[in-house]
Amino acid sequence: MTKNFWQKLKQPILALSPMDGITDAAFRYMTSKYGKPDVIYTEFVNVEGLARGAISMLDHFIYNKIERPIVAQIYGIETESFYKVAIMCCYLGFDGIDINMGCPANKVARRNSGAGLIRVPEQAKKIIRTVKQAVTDWSNGITLEEAELRPKLITALKNMYPQPESTIDQSRTTTPPKPGSKISKSRPARNPIPVSVKTRTGIDEIIAEEWVKHLLEEQPATIAMHGRTLKQMYSGEANWEILGKVAKIVHKTDTLFLGNGGIHSLDDAHEKIKKYGTDGALIGRATCGNPWFFSGIEPTMEDRFKAAIDHARCFEEISMKHTFFAMRKHLAWYCKGFDGARELRKELMQTNSSDEVKVILDKFENTI
Ligand SMILES: Cc1cc2nc3c(=O)[nH]c(=O)nc-3n(C[C@H](O)[C@H](O)[C@H](O)COP(=O)(O)O)c2cc1C
Repeated sequence: MTKNFWQKLKQPILALSPMDGITDAAFRYMTSKYGKPDVIYTEFVNVEGLARGAISMLDHFIYNKIERPIVAQIYGIETESFYKVAIMCCYLGFDGIDINMGCPANKVARRNSGAGLIRVPEQAKKIIRTVKQAVTDWSNGITLEEAELRPKLITALKNMYPQPESTIDQSRTTTPPKPGSKISKSRPARNPIPVSVKTRTGIDEIIAEEWVKHLLEEQPATIAMHGRTLKQMYSGEANWEILGKVAKIVHKTDTLFLGNGGIHSLDDAHEKIKKYGTDGALIGRATCGNPWFFSGIEPTMEDRFKAAIDHARCFEEISMKHTFFAMRKHLAWYCKGFDGARELRKELMQTNSSDEVKVILDKFENTI
């Protein structure tokens, strides 16, 4: 059997954890350019919204090839929508698809999506099977039309990423097969991409060992686990002891296991991975304002200022449709730990363009 991209990576695997509202296209580009993690995840995208035609959500799926391998993270509850969005992810050329089973936000988890799926393991397993089926159908040649995507979505996808004609089979018959049905063998072969899961240790209490056994029944390529329950949200310490126990269960299978939660430096990541026997780790908040995280480089203040301007320019280029507002928090993260940082952050919070950011940072540098 050919290896999937996860299996080809050198261990330990150090990946950028998905963070909604943070790991947008500009942030991911910056993290790849300055630090190069082994894997990058997109922010999560709601499958029901996108499958019903919320085209603006496709912005979350904009990526640059320097981010590869890049995994599209999706969440929701309806299998039909998972199927359609998984087909879109394949079309867009992602290296993998990750199913979010860890989001604790009330609006997500109360509908039994995100971490709420831990409550309904049968539905969680059905979702993994559905996404894997979509990947198989895609690799067997199903088209966007046959997957019954809305025409406006098809147009948007084709504008976003026109596929070379050679991958489209012109000799297709006109009757579309039902999703999941057998596709004609004469179709062009496309590589099936791996399906992974990111989750938590439980809902109110830790049931990680029992929960992971459910997930393993569907043989995901990778399971990443945040060492907190849904109830804990982001409070308290991430429980790496339990992640160590889960790693032992997962290691009896071909699935890879990544730990997550509370890693503050590259050394910390290596220590935790070694101590708890995971195949790698996902790092989230420690990368904010620190695109060098994965390189181990300790940036100077001058480096930080240059990167802040670079990031702001990237943001303008990639996220033209959005206001500069979403960029401001990143600027604040770049400016920490030196005299005058607080006042500087205040000024940066008023900016509306990369040019304004440059003027403020240049002025600050000239006064020290
Ligand atoms: C603002 C924010 C947004 C997040 N969004 C996502 C998300 O879209 N998908 C996901 O799987 N996890 C999400 N997470 C969880 C992180 O990926 C990660 O599991 C968590 O922050 C713990 O890791 P850390 O301590 O390294 O940050 C989010 C976390 C934060 C703080």
